[in-house]
Amino acid sequence: MNGKSTTVPIAKRLKGKVAIITGGAGGFGEITAKLFVQHGAKVIIADVQDDKGVSLCNEIMATNNNHGENDEEIISYVHCNISDETDMKNLVDLAISKHGKLDIMFNNAGIPGDINPTIVGASSDNFKKVFNINVYGGFLGAKYAARVMIPNKSGVILFTASVATLVAGESPHAYTMSKHAIIGLMKNLCVEMGQYGIRVNAISPCAVSTPLLSNALGMDKEGVDGLICESAVLKGVAPEALDVANAALFLASDEAKFVSGLNLALDGGYSVTNPSFSMAVKKLFA
Ligand SMILES: NC(=O)c1ccc[n+]([C@@H]2O[C@H](COP(=O)([O-])OP(=O)(O)OC[C@H]3O[C@@H](n4cnc5c(N)ncnc54)[C@H](O)[C@@H]3O)[C@@H](O)[C@H]2O)c1
Repeated sequence: MNGKSTTVPIAKRLKGKVAIITGGAGGFGEITAKLFVQHGAKVIIADVQDDKGVSLCNEIMATNNNHGENDEEIISYVHCNISDETDMKNLVDLAISKHGKLDIMFNNAGIPGDINPTIVGASSDNFKKVFNINVYGGFLGAKYAARVMIPNKSGVILFTASVATLVAGESPHAYTMSKHAIIGLMKNLCVEMGQYGIRVNAISPCAVSTPLLSNALGMDKEGVDGLICESAVLKGVAPEALDVANAALFLASDEAKFVSGLNLALDGGYSVTNPSFSMAVKKLFA
């Protein structure tokens, strides 16, 4: 060793791929955008938070110098409300006009809606809003991505669902229903798109400290992490947005070339147990 630090170049697992990430200005989408660029993808961030989206692009351009290409080619931001069909069509059209193809459509944007968990207290407006973004937005993303992926006979469509698709009673009804709907769409698409070589998968994270959860719970990151760690099955690690990004990286890459129709639980084993009985017993002997 000569004492000089050496940087080992990472294998670029998405080299040459073109990706759209909805909800890419914050939370899981932001970290996924950074990771995808590190792995050689050309990324289009689609979001409604324009200032955040633009400053994230600037940050990624400032820190990335590995592609040997124009910065604008590597990362760009587009204002896109995923529940607006024209916005979604324009978004996918832009990927084609700018990069000539679309390899990865990560339908990630979503909202929790009201966190009031009772059916009686639930509002119809909230229900419609959650479905409009979480379900209709995911449907539109898949539809317009499929339109350009089918002629190419290749592509990957990903959704961010939720652990609410695997464990009941922990999330609001509208949110839980919306994420189940996304899993239904993912599975149907897996079958329809298989004939074209297009893979379709979902990632279902447990609670992870992002702006979505902090805002919904009205707590800071430390508070949210504390709750998550207390309720976790897998102790000693707190889930983070990078875990979701790494799952997306795997599913989007050719390493997952035979993985389709999967709802990947990213929850440290949270959904495989129900601690209610043992908690009641512990309380009895406490
Ligand atoms: N954080 C969690 O604990 C958690 C757990 C499971 C699943 N999820 C899901 O993960 C996804 C991302 O969540 P996050 O925690 O990163 O949230 P976040 O709020 O931190 O980020 C979501 C992004 O989506 C954008 N967005 C919202 N509505 C949009 C719309 N109509 N059009 C375009 N963009 C829109 C927001 O502006 C934001 O940048 C969501 O689908 C969410 O339901 C989150």
